[in-house]
Amino acid sequence: MKIEDAIIGRRAVREYLSEAVDEPTIRRLIDAAIQAPSAVNQQPWVFTVVRDQPLLDRISEKSKALAAAPGHARSEPHLATLDDPDFHIFYHAPALILISSDEGGPWAVQDCSLAAENLMLAAHAMSLGSCWIGFAQRYLDTEEGKALLGLPKGAVPVAPIIVGHPKRATPPVPRKPPEIRWVG
Ligand SMILES: Cc1cc2nc3c(=O)[nH]c(=O)nc-3n(C[C@H](O)[C@H](O)[C@H](O)COP(=O)(O)O)c2cc1C
Repeated sequence: MKIEDAIIGRRAVREYLSEAVDEPTIRRLIDAAIQAPSAVNQQPWVFTVVRDQPLLDRISEKSKALAAAPGHARSEPHLATLDDPDFHIFYHAPALILISSDEGGPWAVQDCSLAAENLMLAAHAMSLGSCWIGFAQRYLDTEEGKALLGLPKGAVPVAPIIVGHPKRATPPVPRKPPEIRWVG
């Protein structure tokens, strides 16, 4: 697949088959992720692969409760969704790959986000679906969330990405025209 086709064709996929994603495939995705650039070539990323469905269910429930808790302004538009007992933040995807930074640092978010985009583009090129699940962020960054996944205390969870075989094709999502300011 040409890089432009992967970039334009990738979508946030929210419906998955129950078919597992095998270990060699996950390793290929991670191999693509680690080709991303990183500040001072620190490559600070750590990949946590979760395929245990009861554990994903538990993280979904905990994340919904925390994302809906007062004080998290960005969840306000999603309160009805978060209250829905049938809503699963991981859409029952067979795998979650959490990209964390090993010990934070000023470029943790940038480095891990670049790795995440590489991973999502590679998934698309391999006919897999993916979606960044920001709803999981707040819980995974708690002491309890980190302990549940065995993350070191200093680790910073940045990109929780679900991966799986899409149930159906996802239609294109329109883009706003870019605001481009030509200076000089
Ligand atoms: C930082 C970030 C957080 C996101 N969080 C969620 C999420 O919690 N749940 C979800 O369904 N989609 C989530 N998305 C996916 C976006 O909704 C999606 O990328 C956007 O609607 C554009 O659609 P597209 O990726 O198909 O182009 C997130 C994307 C990003 C980059």
